[in-house]
Amino acid sequence: MDVIEAIQTRRAIKSFDPEFSLNRQDIEQLISVAKLAPSAFNIQHYRIVAVQDKELLQQISEAANNQPQVTQSSVLFVLCADMQAWKKEPERYWSHVDEKTQQNLANMIRNFYDGRDQLQRDEAIRSSGLIAQTIMLTAKGMGLDSCPMDGFDFEKVGQLIKLPEDHLVAMFVAVGKADGEPKPRGGKIPLEEVLIWDQF
Ligand SMILES: Cc1cc2nc3c(=O)[nH]c(=O)nc-3n(C[C@H](O)[C@H](O)[C@H](O)COP(=O)(O)O)c2cc1C
Repeated sequence: MDVIEAIQTRRAIKSFDPEFSLNRQDIEQLISVAKLAPSAFNIQHYRIVAVQDKELLQQISEAANNQPQVTQSSVLFVLCADMQAWKKEPERYWSHVDEKTQQNLANMIRNFYDGRDQLQRDEAIRSSGLIAQTIMLTAKGMGLDSCPMDGFDFEKVGQLIKLPEDHLVAMFVAVGKADGEPKPRGGKIPLEEVLIWDQF
C-alpha cells in the first residue's frame, strides 16, 4: 500500500473484531517502524505502553467511558512521553555522528530546554502526535486498523499504568482489525480554510 492510499483509507475505527489477535512480534514490528517518526533534536520522547492484559484493559476501559475499542482492540497503545528526555544523556540521541558534533548537539539540547517547562511539555506532546499518526499509518500498511483516542480520565490511566512522575500520557491508539465498514467520514472543512498562503 502506498502512503497516500494509507492516509486515504485510515479511519478511526469504533468497532474491532475481538477474536483477532496480534502477538508480541507483530507489535514489535509495528513499533520498530513507527519509531522512525521524527522528533525535535531526535529526542524521541515517546514511551509506548502496549496493553494486552485483559484485566488491565477492563480497568482502562472503565476510565474511558467504557468505549468498546479499548477492550475489543488487539493491542491498546497508551502513548506516553518523557518530558525530561532532553536531559537524560542527550549524547545518545546523536551516537552516530562524530564526537564533536555529538557534544555540540547535546549542549544545544540542554541550552534549549533548560528551565522551559512549557516547552518541555509541548515538545513531548508534539512527538506523541507524530508517533500516533505514524503508528496508525504503519498499522494500515500491515493490513491493520486503528483508533486514536483521548476520551478518558488521564489521571486514572496514569495510575493504572504506573506512569513515572516526569512523563505524561498523551493519548491512546487502539489497533486491531475493523469489524465491518466504518460509518461515512465526517465532513472535512474546505481547503481554503485550512491552507493559508504566506500570511493570515
Ligand atoms: C486526539 C484525538 C482524540 C480522539 N478521541 C477519540 C475517542 O476518545 N473516541 C473515539 O471514538 N474517537 C476518537 N477520536 C477519533 C476522531 O473522532 C476521528 O479521528 C475524527 O472524527 C475523524 O474521523 P477519521 O479519523 O475516521 O477520519 C480521536 C481523534 C483524535 C485525533
